[in-house]
Amino acid sequence: MNQGSLVSIDDISKEQILDLLDRAAYFEAHPNSKLLDGKVVATLFFEPSTRTRLSFETAVNRLGGRVIGFSDAATSSTSKGETLKDTIKMVSNYADLIVMRHHLEGAARYATEVTDVPIVNAGDGANQHPSQTMLDLYSIVKTQGRLENLTITMVGDLKYGRTVHSLLMAMRYFNPRFRFVSSPELEMPREYIEICRDLGIEYTEHRDFSPEVINSSDIIYMTRVQRERFSDPMEYEKVKNLYSLRRDMLGNTRPGMRILHPLPRVNEIDRDVDDCPQAYYFEQARNGVFARQAIITRALNIDPTR
Ligand code: CP
Repeated sequence: MNQGSLVSIDDISKEQILDLLDRAAYFEAHPNSKLLDGKVVATLFFEPSTRTRLSFETAVNRLGGRVIGFSDAATSSTSKGETLKDTIKMVSNYADLIVMRHHLEGAARYATEVTDVPIVNAGDGANQHPSQTMLDLYSIVKTQGRLENLTITMVGDLKYGRTVHSLLMAMRYFNPRFRFVSSPELEMPREYIEICRDLGIEYTEHRDFSPEVINSSDIIYMTRVQRERFSDPMEYEKVKNLYSLRRDMLGNTRPGMRILHPLPRVNEIDRDVDDCPQAYYFEQARNGVFARQAIITRALNIDPTR
């Protein structure tokens, strides 16, 4: 793969993850610089986004670089039938780094095969979302003081939710205990369960989002049911409101427990949870800028401390 790309969290080692977290901490302390002076970053969003695109673009701007791209494939020549390969080859003529989100699983991997420009996967279908994982890990370190030996409860759409897949893979280095709470239709895919088994990672699967599960968690990672991944709208209607976190469920949580959510949310966290001390999802999204500054500088082989 071309140097510097981040397609899947599985492609990087524990040491590389820790290096990215160190970089994120550096950028939180030093958000503005000219490290990307003269560099152009393309953000190609074939699927909608608020946080990922805007935080990548904020990261580039704070590093002194320039951004080109599109936030709606309908405004690009994709709408005239241009292939992904041709689009990537064209944009490679203009940019030093490509950040892309696409509905097809494997699209970012494919892009690395048709260009030498580094590719950062900003989400490919239900597959992976590695930059989200880096901001999730950074949020976990900031709130828990460590990554090791934590009980992480993932709730909701564990089938289509690419963020939980990437987070599981990253946490495998840090001796986690997982609780997976979902309906049968939206269970964690068996391939990830097999990975837990093979690596000896403790996990339990639950249908009930019970007080026992909530009160034994260090992190509760809520997810949105991904309507856009369902081919049958009736199936979505059946499961869309199965799990919802309310303020009255938080009376006996562990002292440092924090609630994460990649956002956007629909109904899975009540609005009155927002001002509870356990709620961390808006700060989590803010951490995305620092994590993405880390990813961008790594991709371009820039040492922020030079
Ligand atoms: N968390 C996340 O990927 O949000 P957006 O879809 O708004 O980018």
